[in-house]
Amino acid sequence: MSLIIAHRGYSGKFPENTMLAFQKSLEYGADGIELDIQLTKDSKIVICHDEEIDRTSNGKGFIRDYTLAELREFEFRNNMYDLEDETEDNIKIPTLDEFLNWLNTTELMVNIEFKTSIIEYDGIVEKAIELVKERELEDRVIFSSFNHNTIKEVKELDSSLRCGFLTVANILDPGAYCQAHQVEYYHPAYVSLLHTPEIMNECQEQGIKINAYTVNEPKHIQILLDLNISGIITNEIEEAIQLKH
Ligand code: G3P
Ligand code: CA
Repeated sequence: MSLIIAHRGYSGKFPENTMLAFQKSLEYGADGIELDIQLTKDSKIVICHDEEIDRTSNGKGFIRDYTLAELREFEFRNNMYDLEDETEDNIKIPTLDEFLNWLNTTELMVNIEFKTSIIEYDGIVEKAIELVKERELEDRVIFSSFNHNTIKEVKELDSSLRCGFLTVANILDPGAYCQAHQVEYYHPAYVSLLHTPEIMNECQEQGIKINAYTVNEPKHIQILLDLNISGIITNEIEEAIQLKH
């Protein structure tokens, strides 16, 4: 049965990558959460898709130029003004630490995406692994990145940590490619699978599982459910869950 993975939390209805969006993913029945991580000026891992906070908050500038305390002054409403269930804290930028503490009270899995393609964050890989390991959450985590060197770094530090290679466009024999690096998951843009569904067989033959992103249209979700894909990364939790049952 395919997993429904909430992309940046339940971001179809709630401000992306906030504790509110994560809590709502659980409430509406998602199996897991996908989120993005960046590093602050004082080396704290925070959850945010962009390197800058302009699009998602009432602040401006790069995350790496702010301390965590400074970043926590902003509201990450993502231009959503009428938010029921909003509290002072659940629309502030979350730390990975805070998120994992909460995750520990649930049975959800998490896909932690390293945003390391534009900025090189010194030590982010070691820090993220440490936070996961100190809570013994290894079995519920998949690390992924478009920067495949970052994933190789994870594997070099601990080959037992589950990882996924993210891609924007099709690559040749993705299953064999993942297998060659002992990476358990392939995370393609869902259109790759619609155009070349044979990727499913190639990956299956190599023992590689596929989680596709970001699948929001019901007809596309249905096609991937019919292919018995491992996971569907979606903004639209309620629709996806309805189709799954
Ligand atoms: O991890 C899947 C997906 O989130 C990758 O794209 O830009 O939404 O982080 P993006
Ligand atoms: Ca992401």
